[in-house]
Amino acid sequence: MDSGTIQAVKSRLSIVDVVRRYVDLRPVSGRWMGPCPFHQETKPSFSVKEDEGFYYCFGCQACGDVIDFYMRINGLEFQDALEQLAAEAGVELGRVARDPAAAEKRERKKVLLAMHEQARDFFCRNLRLAAGAGARQYLAGRGVSPETVEAFGLGYSLDEWQGLERFLRGKGLDSDLGLEAGLLTRNEKGNVYDRFRGRLMFPIQNLSGQVIAFGARIITQGEPKYLNSSDSPIYKKGEHLYGLYQARRAITRTRRALLTEGYLDVLSMHQFGYQDACGVLGTALTNDQVRRLSGLCSRVDLVFDGDSAGRKAALRSSEMLLRQGVSCRVVLLPEGEDVDSLLQAKGREGFEKCLDKALDGLAFCLSTVRGHFSPKEVVAWAGDFMDGLADPGLLAYFIPKLSAGLGLSEAELRQRMGRARTARAAAAPGPADRPAEREDKRDRQLLRFAIQYPEFVAELEAEGFEVLLTGDWARDLWRKLVSRRGEDILPWLDETQKALWTSCRLDLDGAGLSPEDRIRERDLMVGLVRKARQESHRKDIKDALRRHWESGDREKGLDCIRALHESIWRDDEQH
Ligand code: UTP
Ligand code: MN
Repeated sequence: MDSGTIQAVKSRLSIVDVVRRYVDLRPVSGRWMGPCPFHQETKPSFSVKEDEGFYYCFGCQACGDVIDFYMRINGLEFQDALEQLAAEAGVELGRVARDPAAAEKRERKKVLLAMHEQARDFFCRNLRLAAGAGARQYLAGRGVSPETVEAFGLGYSLDEWQGLERFLRGKGLDSDLGLEAGLLTRNEKGNVYDRFRGRLMFPIQNLSGQVIAFGARIITQGEPKYLNSSDSPIYKKGEHLYGLYQARRAITRTRRALLTEGYLDVLSMHQFGYQDACGVLGTALTNDQVRRLSGLCSRVDLVFDGDSAGRKAALRSSEMLLRQGVSCRVVLLPEGEDVDSLLQAKGREGFEKCLDKALDGLAFCLSTVRGHFSPKEVVAWAGDFMDGLADPGLLAYFIPKLSAGLGLSEAELRQRMGRARTARAAAAPGPADRPAEREDKRDRQLLRFAIQYPEFVAELEAEGFEVLLTGDWARDLWRKLVSRRGEDILPWLDETQKALWTSCRLDLDGAGLSPEDRIRERDLMVGLVRKARQESHRKDIKDALRRHWESGDREKGLDCIRALHESIWRDDEQH
């Protein structure tokens, strides 16, 4: 990350000017407020602090600086958001290529992206030619409208061996690149030819709208039904979702995504007005995809076949979403139907009936597990589910629900969890066996003071403030507060840290401590630090004492007792 560029862009842009393009903001004592664009609400809980350059929503905790906002509202990757904002602000993006290998890789990716764009244009043109008549007929027969064809950039690969190959060569693009991109193949004789022939072409786009791969459906009888691009430097299977580029704005608006399995299912859903629909691409849902979705929405509605394979897939997908803290619902379709066939036959009304019957994701998991698993499997499932939670804070939410839904006692679940965590702690030493939630709250309270009154950070650091913090994220935030004091800290924080930082800064409005109270608070903190350090000192002595006692080293044991007395006596004297 080039922090010079980030700062240059941020200093030239007003976050309020940018946010106002999307949100109706009004000035309210020292800040701007409006309805949050990232979740649905009527009361305005979205705040922007112009002077500090951040936004924060009390409703959904969305927060960050102007670049975060721009990424999120437009569904862009960081680099693309930065580039677009830099262009607006008139900042030259300095591409300092210190690492020639990295520079070459970047260059290669650029050429691959350009090649995919050319290929997409080529396929689109084919669809309009006489040779594309069959494909046009196929699309019409499946009820795909010209607007949908346009919006998704559908095309046709000619039924020839070297249509694309010739075209790319004509554009001066090297066929080795075409091979690397998986658009071309080479046979044993060494001849290079088109991988996709006589197929309907579905461009797969990243969140910035760049074409990075293709899916291709046969339009006659034959095998395989779909061919997909292989992995390349710009495309990894399981990282992307079909149609997410077209769906991203609707998803950030409704905070909901509809997720289905097929290319044509996605097209039909958009065509029938479900603009927040996207699809997995010929694989089971992956964690990468869940993370991508969770950045845009808080709930995913999974649409699956009602048969047993569909239910199994729905169980797996729900588990993955829930573990990442994304809520979900499961929409089961009548057996033998997919969304596309249902929408084409019965329209929105038919699909709405299924949506009305959607099951809560967790309830669906629990009833499936209860109904189909042996007792041993139920216990194992619950343990795996808890182990896989992305954030230990989620345990408090899930334990009562797992307990009620599976007929296991909460104590049993906590114990099962405790064992797993002790095992993990033994493998990777660290404080992990105390109630995580309470500690988390304490970390937040401690950090709040440092965030609101940075003038005390250096002093608290000198005292050894970090000993008071328990969570990794909290200690990490403290170190950033120390090392980036007086700088713009936001680009360096993760989501949890950003949410705490922005909400604390916002709270400062009109509710700050008086100078005397600040001093009192500082003294309190210093006292806590000293006490914690003393306690840890005494614990070290006691541990040593126990060791010497067990090994029968009386002399050293007595030394320890003396040291302990001295420490307590000094403490008494101080009070
Ligand atoms: P389906 O076989 O359910 O097809 O595969 P579909 O999406 O309903 O397609 P139509 O309606 O017959 O045209 C579901 C998804 O699985 C992947 C594709 O992503 C497809 O959309 N798939 C399927 C493949 O990748 N390869 C295949 O050979 C088949
Ligand atoms: Mn289908």
